[in-house]
Amino acid sequence: MDFDLVIRNGTVATASDVFKADVGVKGGTVAALGSGLAAGREEIDAEGLLVLPGGVDGHVHFDQPTGDESVMADDFLSGTRSAAFGGTTTVLPFACQQKGQSLRAAVEDYHRRAAGKPLIDYAFHLIVTDPTEQVLGQELPALIRDGYTSFKIYMTYDALKLNDRQILEVLDIARSEGAMVMMHAENADCIAWLTERLERAGQTAPFFHGVSRPRVAEREATHRAISLAELVDVPILIVHVSGADAVEQIRWAQGRGLRIYAETCPQYLFLTADDLGGAGGDAGFEGAKCICSPPPRDAANQRVIWDGLTGGTFQLFSSDHAPFRFDGPGGKKVNGEKAPFRCVPNGIPGVETRLPLLFSEGVMKGRMELTKFVELTSTNPACMYGLHPRKGTIAVGSDADIAIWDPARKVTITNAILHHEVDYTPYEGIEVTGWPVVTLSRGEVVCRDGALLASPGRGAFLPCGLPAPARPKGAPAPALPF
Ligand code: URP
Ligand code: ZN
Ligand code: ZN
Ligand code: ZN
Repeated sequence: MDFDLVIRNGTVATASDVFKADVGVKGGTVAALGSGLAAGREEIDAEGLLVLPGGVDGHVHFDQPTGDESVMADDFLSGTRSAAFGGTTTVLPFACQQKGQSLRAAVEDYHRRAAGKPLIDYAFHLIVTDPTEQVLGQELPALIRDGYTSFKIYMTYDALKLNDRQILEVLDIARSEGAMVMMHAENADCIAWLTERLERAGQTAPFFHGVSRPRVAEREATHRAISLAELVDVPILIVHVSGADAVEQIRWAQGRGLRIYAETCPQYLFLTADDLGGAGGDAGFEGAKCICSPPPRDAANQRVIWDGLTGGTFQLFSSDHAPFRFDGPGGKKVNGEKAPFRCVPNGIPGVETRLPLLFSEGVMKGRMELTKFVELTSTNPACMYGLHPRKGTIAVGSDADIAIWDPARKVTITNAILHHEVDYTPYEGIEVTGWPVVTLSRGEVVCRDGALLASPGRGAFLPCGLPAPARPKGAPAPALPF
């Protein structure tokens, strides 16, 4: 036997090419691509199916303590299970520093949380909330060298946010160490001021969450993030971009030659402010299911996000899976069924539906090429976080992380068919065409036709390399596809 596994007669797609080929797997990596490959110990017939690099979801939250009574529903087992059933083979959850905590202690805590659980490979982004001298001078540089080469910083949320001076200090470390900085760009004071006014007026239904976080608050913070990055001369990634105003700032920066990267998420293509319920609160508390930050906008903004995805403004399409139950413990109702929006946990689930939604509405509806789909959902995230070419492509030598898709399968998304521990999906009832039918991680079948075939703990922790896109201007240009 030449191969451990041969995937035969499928149509392989990468970020650059679509071609008919057999894929030979040996020792967990792709050993050959070609026609008429020799026999494998195991064979999968992929005639009529697409053979894609497994998704790389560069933005998920698993088992992250929130600092209050709310509790995330997914841990590293259920979160990676849901990811795998949705065609994703690598996830990058966050290891969040609590204020006063050492960054190293935060990382160790998350490794304990993950221990024995992941079904697929994973890496960590750090969240830096307390950039003390010790953190900036020693812990962060040391962690970057240990393979934690990306981190997120926040411009909003009291427990997480940094001021501009702190942001500059942190960006400076990223520049000198070659790390990628992800920025949550919303203006905290605008949001706090609006929230107080809304509460005084009794406007506290879920709908007003969106009103309290208007596009201008995102636009201002996006512009400020870009300016701070320009001052330090370091690339940054603006995460979960929701609409036209932030997109305009990002295009302006990109047009000036700055290395500003951008990520968007399914909620900004498939949800609108209407999904947060009615202004009178008469739609009840249902709208809390769609409370996330930044909030979903409207149809016109959805169109701008689509244009940004197909036209090159966005490099990444991630889920921002932030799993809170609706009814269950620690969920959206943790502070009561009529809690003001300020007291509702922020975030929505989506790690399993990310790829099917974009595949169906993007590729099958002719909005984007299959190569673009692979680029946005797998190859670029792998590059952005220093995991390419081990992850994010199907090439000789790459890990055999593969999702086999049936492009003709019609599926109606309901929470009953999903594999997370959340008790709802915001995408209930949406019919999609195309679904991943087999997911392989390093050549092992993780799930096939709805059955889970892998054991918890088989997923490996991935130390990340220094991301090529994080190199400052003047340094050699990053590798393709950037
Ligand atoms: O509302 C959201 N997106 N919650 C998750 C945390 C974050 O800011 O990404
Ligand atoms: Zn965020
Ligand atoms: Zn997030
Ligand atoms: Zn690359």
